[in-house]
Amino acid sequence: MARKLFVTTALPYANAAFHIGHMMEYIQADIWVRFQRMRGHEVQFVCADDAHGAPIMIAAEKAGLTPQAFVAQIAGGRKQYLDGFHIAFDHWHSTDAPENHELAQDIYRALQREGLITERVIEQFYDPDKGMFLPDRFIKGECPKCGAKDQYGDNCEVCGAVYQPTDLKNPYSALTGATPVLKTSTHYFFQLSSPRALAFLKEWTQTPGRLQPEVLNKISEWFSEDEEGKPTLADWDISRDAPYFGIRIPGTEDKYFYVWLDAPVGYLASLKARLGAAYEGYVADPQVEQIHFIGKDIVTFHTLFWPAMLHFSGRKVPNHIFVHGFITVSGEKMSKSRGTGISPLRYLELGMNAEWLRYYIAAKLNARVEDIDFNPEDFVARVNSDLVGKYINIASRAAGFLSKRFGGSLSADLGVEGRVLLDGLRAQAEHIAALFEEREFGKALREIMALADRVNEFVDQHKPWELAKQAGQDAALHDVCSVCIEAFRLLTIYLKPVLPALAAQVEQFLDVAPLEWSDAARALGRHTIRPYQHLMQRADAAHVDKLFDAPAAAPAPAPPAHPGGEPVAAQIGIDDFAKIDLRLARIVNAERVDGSDKLLRLTLDVGEGRTRNVFSGIRSAFEPEALIGRMTVMVANLAPRKMKFGVSEGMVLAASHADEKNNPGLYLLEPGAGAIPGLRVR
Ligand code: MSP
Ligand code: ZN
Repeated sequence: MARKLFVTTALPYANAAFHIGHMMEYIQADIWVRFQRMRGHEVQFVCADDAHGAPIMIAAEKAGLTPQAFVAQIAGGRKQYLDGFHIAFDHWHSTDAPENHELAQDIYRALQREGLITERVIEQFYDPDKGMFLPDRFIKGECPKCGAKDQYGDNCEVCGAVYQPTDLKNPYSALTGATPVLKTSTHYFFQLSSPRALAFLKEWTQTPGRLQPEVLNKISEWFSEDEEGKPTLADWDISRDAPYFGIRIPGTEDKYFYVWLDAPVGYLASLKARLGAAYEGYVADPQVEQIHFIGKDIVTFHTLFWPAMLHFSGRKVPNHIFVHGFITVSGEKMSKSRGTGISPLRYLELGMNAEWLRYYIAAKLNARVEDIDFNPEDFVARVNSDLVGKYINIASRAAGFLSKRFGGSLSADLGVEGRVLLDGLRAQAEHIAALFEEREFGKALREIMALADRVNEFVDQHKPWELAKQAGQDAALHDVCSVCIEAFRLLTIYLKPVLPALAAQVEQFLDVAPLEWSDAARALGRHTIRPYQHLMQRADAAHVDKLFDAPAAAPAPAPPAHPGGEPVAAQIGIDDFAKIDLRLARIVNAERVDGSDKLLRLTLDVGEGRTRNVFSGIRSAFEPEALIGRMTVMVANLAPRKMKFGVSEGMVLAASHADEKNNPGLYLLEPGAGAIPGLRVR
C-alpha cells in the first residue's frame, strides 16, 4: 500500500547563504524522498526559512534593513541552490509567515490549557544603551577564572571555563560597549520537567525504531535525576522580551516566543501553505508518517521539545527523526570564522555537475550519526572511476553499434549469458531498495557499482568491438549491445534517486517513460532507442581546485554601524600606548592542545635567545602546520599567566569582528617581508 510521508529538513537560519552542510542535508533527504516516490509512495517534502531570533534582528539592523526585508533578501537567494542541486522540495516557506504565527500561538494556547506553561521572574543582563536584554552571545567580559579579556558570556575560549554571563568580570555589551545592568523580567516556561512530560518523552523516545541508537543513547541522560532527585531535564524558557523579531506570545504586549519554539512549527506552517484546505485532514490522518531530517547539533530540540509541544497540544508526534553528522572539507570543520571551505554556489558557477556532488555525498552517507569529509582528490577519483568509468561507460560502449548497425533497435533474445546477467541485476532490486530505505546510501551505491562491474566484465568477455569486425557475428553483437542497454536501464533505475537529472536524460535516450522502481522487474524487450549523446563529463582536478580559490561572494550586508561590529574604545594618551610592548615574533612551532578545541600552543622566537610559550585561541581558524615559520606580532610585556595547560608568556595579535558568528574571519597580524624577530612595533 502506498505510504503517506511528510518529510522535512531543518529550517535554515535566514541570516546567510547556504553552505555545503545545508546542501548535504538537502541531498540526503532529497535522495530518500525521490526513492520513496519511485516506489509509488506519496510524499510531502517541505522546508522554510527560520526567520526569527535576536541574531537575525541584529544582523538586519546592521544591514540597515527591517528584519522582514533582510530575511526576504536571503530567501530570494535560495532557489538557485535548490534548483542547481536538484532538490525537489514541494514547498518553501518562512517561519514569519501568517500560518506560522497562527499555529505557534495555537500550540502555545493548548499547552497553557494543559497547565504546562508557568511564569517565573528571572534576572538577566540588559543593555541600557540599546534598551534590550542581551542574549549570551552578545555579552562579553573577562573570564572569571583566568581573567582573559573579551570572552563570551557562556564560556572562555582561553581556559575553557564554562559559566553564566553574570559571572563575567567587567562585562560589556558586544552591541554598544555599554556595561550591562541586571534587570528582572517575567519569562514563560514549558514544564518539561513535569512528571507527565517526562513520562511522555520517555515513552516517545524509547519507542522501538523511532530514533537511531546513538541518538537515544545521547539523550537518555536527560531522563536521569540529580542527587536531590530533581530531573536533569529542566523546564524550557520559551519567552524573550521585546525588542525581538518573533511571534508575540498571546495575552502579552511585549513578550515573544523564543525562536526555537516557533521554528519547528514552521514545518507545519509550510505544509499548511502547501496543502491549503486539505491540511487539517492530512495532519489528522493516522497513516501519515512524519519524518524530520536534521543534523546532530539540534537533536534535543527535535527529540524532546518538539515532540512534547506536538503531543501536549493534541497533535500527532513525529514518527522518526533522522539525524546525520557534519560534513567537513578536507578534514577541517567549516569554521564560523574562516568560511566554509567550498561554496555550493561557486561550485555551480564553475559549471561543475551538481550530480557529481550528489553522488559523492551519497557514496559517503550511512544511517549513523557520523561526520563525512569532502576530499577533493577522493571526489574526482570517485566520480571518474565509478560514475563515468563504470556506469556511463556501459551505455557509451554499446550505443554506437546499436545505432550504426541496427538502427537503434534492441534484440529481444539477448542470449543465455546476457539473460543470466540481467536476471542477476534484477535480483538485487529489493536489496538495493532496502538500503535506500534505511538511508544506507553508501552501501547501496557500492552494490550498484558492483553490478556495473559485472556488466563491464561481460562486455570485456564478449568484446563487441571485435564482434563488429567479424563476419557473421551480427546477431551476437546485437545481443551483447542490447544486454548492455538493458543493464544500463536497470542501473539507471537504481541510481535515479541520486542522479535525477541524468536519469531524465537517459529516459530520453532510451525513449522510455519516467523510470519507477517497479520497472526493474520488467524487460525493455523489442524497443528502439534514440541516438546516444554523451551523458556525463569526467570531473577535472583543476576545476575542483578552483573551488578553493576564493569564496563566492556572500550576499553583502550593508556596512555595519560600527567598524568591525563594535564601537572604538575610550580614548588613550600616547603614554598609555607606550606601556604595551609589541614585538615581532617568529612562530617556530605550533601545535594543538590536548583537551582544547580552541587553543593552539605556539612557540615564539622574539629574538631573546630563548623561545616563549604562548597559548592562543585561534585553533578554529588555523591549522598549526600552516603557522610554523610565519611572522606575527606579540604583546611581549604581558604578565605571564598560568593556565590549565601551562604558563602563557604573552599574546599574539589577531583581528576579528565583534560578532564572529555572522561576520566570519580571523586574521593574524603579519609584518611585511624581510622583518625579523624582536623588532618593536610603535
Ligand atoms: N534554524 C535551525 C534549525 C531549525 S529547525 C526547526 C538551524 N539552522 S542552521 O542553518 O544552522 O542549520 C540547518 C541544518 O544544517 C541543521 O540540520 C544543521 O545540523 C545542518 N548543518 C549545519 N552545518 C552542517 C555541516 N557542516 N554538515 C552537515 N549539516 C550541517 O540549526
Ligand atoms: Zn578563562
